[in-house]
Amino acid sequence: MRAFIALELPEVFVEETLELARDLRSCVDGRFVPATNYHLTLAFLGDVDERDVASAMAALDAVADQCVAPSLVCTGLGTFGRANDATLWLGLDDSIVLRSLASIVREELGSRGLAFDTKSFKPHITLARRVRIPRGSLPPLGFPRDAQGVRVTLFKSELSREGATYKALYSVDLNRVG
Ligand code: 2AM
Repeated sequence: MRAFIALELPEVFVEETLELARDLRSCVDGRFVPATNYHLTLAFLGDVDERDVASAMAALDAVADQCVAPSLVCTGLGTFGRANDATLWLGLDDSIVLRSLASIVREELGSRGLAFDTKSFKPHITLARRVRIPRGSLPPLGFPRDAQGVRVTLFKSELSREGATYKALYSVDLNRVG
C-alpha cells in the first residue's frame, strides 16, 4: 500500500483554508483538492508492506515522546511545476518546531529501516493540482489564522480516477505548549 505521514490540521484552519480555496477557484483553473484531503506531509513513504506499517506506528509513538505541537502560520501561496500544469499550495512558516518535527519523524523512520522520499522538507498544504497559473494579479485573499497542529497520522493513500482517498491508519497527539 502507498503510505505517508502528515500533520493533520485543526477544523477551523481547514474551514479557513477552504474559504481561501473558494476565492482562488474563481480565478484559477485546476483540480482543487477536497477539504477532507488537506494535510501537511512530513514524510512520504511510498509503497510499504504490513510489517512496515507496524514499524511506522512505532516511529510515531517515538515522535510523540519527543515533539511538541507546532504552530501553523501561513506565509502565502506558492507553486511547484510548470506554469501550465502546476501544483498550487499554501505555504507555512518553516519554524524550528515544525522543522524538527519533520526531521524527527524521518529519523525515527530511518532508524527502523523504513525508506521515505528524502526531498527537503518544504511545509505546504496542496490546494490544487493541474493548475494553470493566471497572468494577472490575484484578488485580495484572506489567509487562515494561526493555529496549532496536534495530530500526526500515518495515512494510506488510494489512487483512483476520481483522485486520491486518504485513510488514517494510526495517529498520535503531540503535547501542546503555550
Ligand atoms: P503534497 O504533500 O505536495 O501534497 C500523498 O501522496 C501525499 O504525499 C501528498 O500530499 C503528496 O504531495 C505527498 N508527497 C510527498 N512526496 C511525494 C512523492 N514523491 N510522491 C507522491 N506524493 C508525495
